[in-house]
Amino acid sequence: MAMNLARALAVVGLGFCAAQDDPCKSAHKSVADCSSDPKCTWCKAGAVPDACYTKENAKLLPPSVFQCDLAAAEQPRRRSEVLGQVETEALGVVWRGNGSNSHELLEALELPKEFSWCDKDGVSYCTMSRNQHIPQYCGSCWAHGSISALGDRIKIARKGKGVDVNLAVQHVLNCGGIGSCYGGTVDGPYQWMHDISKKTGTGVAYETGNPYLACSSDSKEGFCEKIDTTCKPENVARTCGSFDKEGGACSGLSKYPHATVSDYGSISGADAMMKEIYQRGSISCGIDANPMLNYESGIITDKGSGVDHVISVVGWGNDAKVGMYWIVRNSWGEYWGEMGYLRVAKGALMVEEQCSWAVPGEFTAAEIGNQVHCHEGGDNCKVASKANTVVI
Ligand SMILES: *[C@@H]1O[C@H](CO)[C@@H](O)[C@H](O)[C@H]1NC(C)=O
Repeated sequence: MAMNLARALAVVGLGFCAAQDDPCKSAHKSVADCSSDPKCTWCKAGAVPDACYTKENAKLLPPSVFQCDLAAAEQPRRRSEVLGQVETEALGVVWRGNGSNSHELLEALELPKEFSWCDKDGVSYCTMSRNQHIPQYCGSCWAHGSISALGDRIKIARKGKGVDVNLAVQHVLNCGGIGSCYGGTVDGPYQWMHDISKKTGTGVAYETGNPYLACSSDSKEGFCEKIDTTCKPENVARTCGSFDKEGGACSGLSKYPHATVSDYGSISGADAMMKEIYQRGSISCGIDANPMLNYESGIITDKGSGVDHVISVVGWGNDAKVGMYWIVRNSWGEYWGEMGYLRVAKGALMVEEQCSWAVPGEFTAAEIGNQVHCHEGGDNCKVASKANTVVI
């Protein structure tokens, strides 16, 4: 007992000396200050006062005496759901590509201090909140951000009238070829939608023709290996007329409610984002999700250290203390954050690094009278040939 204490004190002495002129120790006196500095970590010790050390020095301190928060400090970042430039280009997606320069042609209007599509003159143009993570974990944020922002823009085009159009994230996962449950790109979804719109005249299916399953064909999570999510007519929009045993089968539809994209582009920076949001609607943007994981409410001011997630931005506000902040819709369910949303201070979480916008083209809606009225069993809308693949 006495021996151990003597040895411990000797070791403490050594360790303490090594860290005597530690820059973290002189800079930070509190745990909060210390842990907000990425170079530093807080160490607890019974024999000497708890203090802040550089991570290098903390590693030299004897772990039997000093309890440093190195494990937490060195925890790997959350798995990124956003592909880098090389991986993006390998998928045939143009990095920060633009369908046109229409964004640059937007007028320079005076912008209000606060603006939200979820509450514009008392009307909400925000479409449903979503949850990418159930029935099983799927890193499809990139598809969610773009589908949600486009949904809002369709609602804006319809002046908020009628039942909301909610587009099928699963169609993007099944057929886009621009990402999977293991990540995707900010640029990809709108480029793909624009491409199929132009080539086939048909765009993204509606949620009711292709509900979200949280699977991509490469996903090994949950029930994903048991189902087929490859791109074929049944996995674009389908109907199942009756139970299998009663002669009914599921079939892919040739005509189904859908929405096309007529233009798209990439922007960055707060000014471009505000201009685009104010004049044309919600946008989808990359963000650093690590500081968001345990967010409950309020305005996040953390600068962020890398884009690994995609969300949609629906507007901005102004706070007396923090100043301007973005109103952000996430895709982790409404139980997360502020009913599925979060507020991000201007310049925080790298949310201004990379955003995408799309202009809606045609969409199926009652007031337009362009619906093909399919029967329950789909006989009048069935895909004609036995073709098992779609050409898009
Ligand atoms: C697309 O347009 C934006 C601004 O309108 C510009 O910053 C970006 O560099 C353009 N992308 C490419 C690939 O030219």
